Amino acid sequence: MRILAIETSCDETGIALMEGTKLPEGFTFTVLKSELLSQALLHSPYGGVYPNLAKREHLKNLPILFAKFADDTFDAVAVTRGPGLEPALWTGIEFAKKLAQERSVPLLPVNHMEGHLLSSLVKDGRLEDITLPVLALLISGGHTEFVLMRNWFEYEIIGKTLDDAVGEAYDKVARMLGLPYPGGPEISKLAERARETNQKSHFAPLGSSQRSQNGTFASLPRPMLNTKDNDVSFSGLKTAVLYALRDRGGIQKLTAEEIIDFAREFEDAATEVLVHKTKRALEESGAQTFVIGGGVAANKHIRESLQSLLQEKFNEVEMRLPELGITGDNAVMIAEAALARALSGIDDSKGGEVVAKGNLSIQTI
Ligand code: KG4
Ligand code: ZN
Repeated sequence: MRILAIETSCDETGIALMEGTKLPEGFTFTVLKSELLSQALLHSPYGGVYPNLAKREHLKNLPILFAKFADDTFDAVAVTRGPGLEPALWTGIEFAKKLAQERSVPLLPVNHMEGHLLSSLVKDGRLEDITLPVLALLISGGHTEFVLMRNWFEYEIIGKTLDDAVGEAYDKVARMLGLPYPGGPEISKLAERARETNQKSHFAPLGSSQRSQNGTFASLPRPMLNTKDNDVSFSGLKTAVLYALRDRGGIQKLTAEEIIDFAREFEDAATEVLVHKTKRALEESGAQTFVIGGGVAANKHIRESLQSLLQEKFNEVEMRLPELGITGDNAVMIAEAALARALSGIDDSKGGEVVAKGNLSIQTI
């Protein structure tokens, strides 16, 4: 089966053409063509994604990208229907709807988070030999959630952020540190530098009560570390960065070395929370496979810390890490989710009517 997929939920315009086949134990996927245009640079001055600008850019970019697929044939059109920014989602939906009508093929709505989850499970173009249940940690600019898949295509959110998504916290803290949007990769780069050069930390060891003494500062908090659930929270951590910067007289008073130090301490704090709650969620769910997905799943420190957790404590659980090229938003993941569902006999076409839903949950597909 061949699907043309369209992704416009946020600030990436993506179109992919993909062939999928069913195997006894799963599926194979072959990317025939994939095009992606990022608007990140355009949104950078706003420090985040500006919805109407995103919409305008998708409207402009979709026909330009599609020109490369105009001579291709396909059996269905898949499109992200949510979650995401509604004005942006609608551009993809309208484009996909018209295309499906012109070609007389079904239109298949796809949940963006299911796209992140299923595509992260794919290894060497194959989605097979997955032992259920699967626990997924989905970490992006809009989401931070633990999703349990007990049966294929059935999802239960067993933990989530109570406020900011981890990617959002990275982006906001990056902005406080004077780094450009999207801030995740920027903070990560600086934090890596601090680790590689073994730069001395100005933050007191966790738990010590030292504050602003001899150039040492209280460590940043690790919110909700001890709550008896799989929920996380990053807004307090973000505010702690704000206050710590203010205590030091503002960002302009910091040396380059101190900014690097902040980046590492923030990344350490966020990672510790994610690792701790992953341990808890794995114990509670008895998952046999663990996967991470979403833009933040590109983060080296988070990937390595979770890998260490699994090696040390959950040797029997298989860990799947997404290839770096598909962690951010793209249309390949939308094609994979649509193909996996269609090849399993699920009919998502619903008469061609697709409505954008900004806060669509993975639980209600
Ligand atoms: O999944 P995604 O591309 O879009 C959403 O659906 O939100 O995720 C984007 C988020 C941004 O917050 C970005 O800063 C973050 O992923 N991100 C990272 C890294 N690469 C992207 N965060 C931390 N470390 C990274 N290496
Ligand atoms: Zn995403």
